[in-house]
Amino acid sequence: MKLHRTLFTAWVFAAGVALHAQNAHNMVVQTNKLGAEIQPTMYGLFFEDINYGADGGLYAELVKNRSFEFPQRFMGWNVFGNVTLMDDGPFERNPHYVRLGNSGHREKHTGIENEGFFGIGVKEGAEYRFSVWARGENQKLRIELIKNDTMEERQAFESKELTVNSKDWKQYEVILKSPRTEPKAHLRIFLESAGTVDLEHVSLFPVDTWKERKNGLRKDLVQALYDIKPGVFRFPGGCIVEGTDEATRYEWKKTVGAVENRPLNENRWHYTFKHRFFPDYFQTYGLGFFEYFQLSEDIGAEPLPILNCGLVCQYQNDPDQQVSLSKLDSYIQDALDLIEFANGDVTTTWGKVRADMGHPAPFNLKFLGIGNEQWGPEYPERLKQFVEVLRKAHPEIKIVGSSGPQSEGKDFDYLWPEMKNLKVDLVDEHFYRPESWFLAQGNRYDNYDRKGPKVFAGEYACHGKGKKWNHFNAALMEAAFMTGLERNADVVHMATYAPLFAHVEGWQWRPDLIWFDNLNSVRTCSYYVQQLYSHNKGTHVLPLTMDKKAVSGQEGQDGLFASAVWDKDEKACIVKIANTSDKAQPVSVTFNGLKKSDKLVEGKCITLQSADLDKDNTVEHPNVITPKESDVTIEGNVLNVEMAPKTFVLYKFVKASNK
Ligand code: AHR
Repeated sequence: MKLHRTLFTAWVFAAGVALHAQNAHNMVVQTNKLGAEIQPTMYGLFFEDINYGADGGLYAELVKNRSFEFPQRFMGWNVFGNVTLMDDGPFERNPHYVRLGNSGHREKHTGIENEGFFGIGVKEGAEYRFSVWARGENQKLRIELIKNDTMEERQAFESKELTVNSKDWKQYEVILKSPRTEPKAHLRIFLESAGTVDLEHVSLFPVDTWKERKNGLRKDLVQALYDIKPGVFRFPGGCIVEGTDEATRYEWKKTVGAVENRPLNENRWHYTFKHRFFPDYFQTYGLGFFEYFQLSEDIGAEPLPILNCGLVCQYQNDPDQQVSLSKLDSYIQDALDLIEFANGDVTTTWGKVRADMGHPAPFNLKFLGIGNEQWGPEYPERLKQFVEVLRKAHPEIKIVGSSGPQSEGKDFDYLWPEMKNLKVDLVDEHFYRPESWFLAQGNRYDNYDRKGPKVFAGEYACHGKGKKWNHFNAALMEAAFMTGLERNADVVHMATYAPLFAHVEGWQWRPDLIWFDNLNSVRTCSYYVQQLYSHNKGTHVLPLTMDKKAVSGQEGQDGLFASAVWDKDEKACIVKIANTSDKAQPVSVTFNGLKKSDKLVEGKCITLQSADLDKDNTVEHPNVITPKESDVTIEGNVLNVEMAPKTFVLYKFVKASNK
């Protein structure tokens, strides 16, 4: 009886396999044909101070308008009693400060109160470093964290005294410890004594920043970046590189040195969209180029700064408003100086600035982008001048040019040949496009010129048609499309989703990779797609075909997309498959080219899936859709699987030799 049942089970299994094989989409991976090397930079990050990504986000400063330099000098502050705005402060580029004087009555108060960025988030038991530049003789300050709710609730829940005891400007510090968690506290400073005190650069940081650095970054947000294991980090934008006009373009030199003396710049995202107007959104440059380089180093990514090429926002300005060709020298000098800042010896002018900021070792800059998403003849004209100088002075630096804001069409078709003529090393392509575009572009790079510049897919995200928010289906489209990036790793050397961060109360653009509020952050489905690719990028492409064709969602492929890589360090074959259709599909993957003595073992399957295609993780429910890992076994060299509808799956097998 037992034998009978075993035979029956074997028959059912065999029949099942036969049926599976009959209906299945048969994919073939050539394990013995190593394709292109996959660049370590392949999957990276693009950071821009949009959506309160820097000030109010990654940059952990909790005080808004800390130097009273916003055009409305008291924006973000409530003042009470005898407060005067002064403009002859100790920091040349931030001259404003406040004078707190006697209120004229012993029961009345003088002080200032800061509202933070959508409030000040503090956590129970956590410490916060209050610091201020001040002068005054034996003046007492009371520093408070207050709850900012109803009038009855507007009371201090933490309070510390600070004595200002010098006629000269000096920095003072006191640590506040919050007894409670408050997402929207305020910071209040009272003058307690009867005299006068001057205050400048009023600052409050969590003590527990990333790597506990002063002037540091928000820990949970850097952790999210670190956890992607990014290969490249592009900064500081995006449109903010261009600015609205010459005066407001991003100038890296203004962002280094003592933080108190970095001048304020407007953030063009505060007014770019009328329906998402944030008049209090500025760039303090507290997160500047030193910090960007340091962050790149911390997260193990190659730094990729983008510099202004002499063009300000082309959407907002006429061509004749741009910096004339004869006036580009200082822009080009900025590029040369930046290379010196990043890589120069400590005896050089800019190398010394870096060393004085605490990093004598070079940052080992290898890539430099000139221009954001510029277009038209005015771009190559300017880029040419940069290329000529940079090639001579720094042949070791790889130059990144741009193909403009369009993913195809007239401007795109004009710029690519121009970039080839200029022999830039990489071309930055941008595409924020709907589902249909992503589904149709699986083989976008299959026929790209292999001899020209390499591709940097520098900004992309699926913007669902009528669904411009983060949701699972958009992430699935990105996963499917990325099989094409991977298959073409010989020509695609970098890819970075965009934008990276968004504050839930202060966003201008969505979807975004990581959302946060004042206390918490959430990794979206798109984040997990990026992470799965980055963690499993392998070292070499392996050919993967179905009916001898690449699996790129072509006709007859039922919405399947797939790619395969070999990881020489882990000795692993990794296959990624996206089923973008809404039906389950049997798939068999045959691993050809294995030696008789080879076996595929330690099979792992990681699945990203959501029953509700319109949903994503939220700050309130951050772990609804996450990759799920399970073991998987393989029969000989054939993997038979049922691909669930609308699912992204990654299979990984270690190749073991029986010998
Ligand atoms: O990522 C948002 C914006 O999109 C970038 O600033 C710009 O480069 C692109 O238009």
